[in-house]
Amino acid sequence: MLDDTDRIMQVMEQAFDPAYGEAWNRRQLSASLILPTTWYYLVGADGNAPSGSQEAAGFALTRAAPGEEELLLVGVLPQFRGQGLGRKLLTLFEHGAKLRQAERIFLEMRANNPARKLYEAFGFQPIGRRKDYYRASNGERIDAITYGKSL
Ligand SMILES: CC(C)(COP(=O)(O)OP(=O)(O)OC[C@H]1O[C@@H](n2cnc3c(N)ncnc32)[C@H](O)[C@@H]1OP(=O)(O)O)[C@@H](O)C(=O)NCCC(=O)NCCS
Repeated sequence: MLDDTDRIMQVMEQAFDPAYGEAWNRRQLSASLILPTTWYYLVGADGNAPSGSQEAAGFALTRAAPGEEELLLVGVLPQFRGQGLGRKLLTLFEHGAKLRQAERIFLEMRANNPARKLYEAFGFQPIGRRKDYYRASNGERIDAITYGKSL
């Protein structure tokens, strides 16, 4: 049996480019998951929620606040990208946020992340920019872009 923390960590360890230090460690993840405001979604390679000993191909982690919900992390294993799993995770996030009466969902992304195409196709619009917010391991500074979508 795998538990969901194991499943998320398996994806976490492979999905994020180490140059940007975006992946969380298990301790950070566990500390977030015990909060009542944290929600997560998992998909297996077939797009359904994994069960039993099935591993995840992707996950999304979100944080709810009154009237809004933020995407903290989304990741899909490299070998399963481009098959719609990222979009599926955003759809699950949007549905969950609607169930919790959110009026707006948002996320923050480094300006050079190719995931922006996915976010924009999903209806997110850029609503703000923080200059030089991220620092890559080579010292490069990268802006953060905040994206929002009204529900
Ligand atoms: C972002 C991510 C979750 C998308 O997952 P996915 O399963 O490939 O997403 P989908 O298949 O639903 O959609 C992919 C679309 O987004 C774009 N896209 C997303 N990530 C991309 C990437 N790394 N390279 C190129 N295009 C990408 C493509 O344009 C593609 O659209 P298309 O199918 O019309 O060509 C995945 O690329 C990932 O895990 N990236 C690394 C982690 C990360 O940066 N997460 C976001 C910040 S927290």
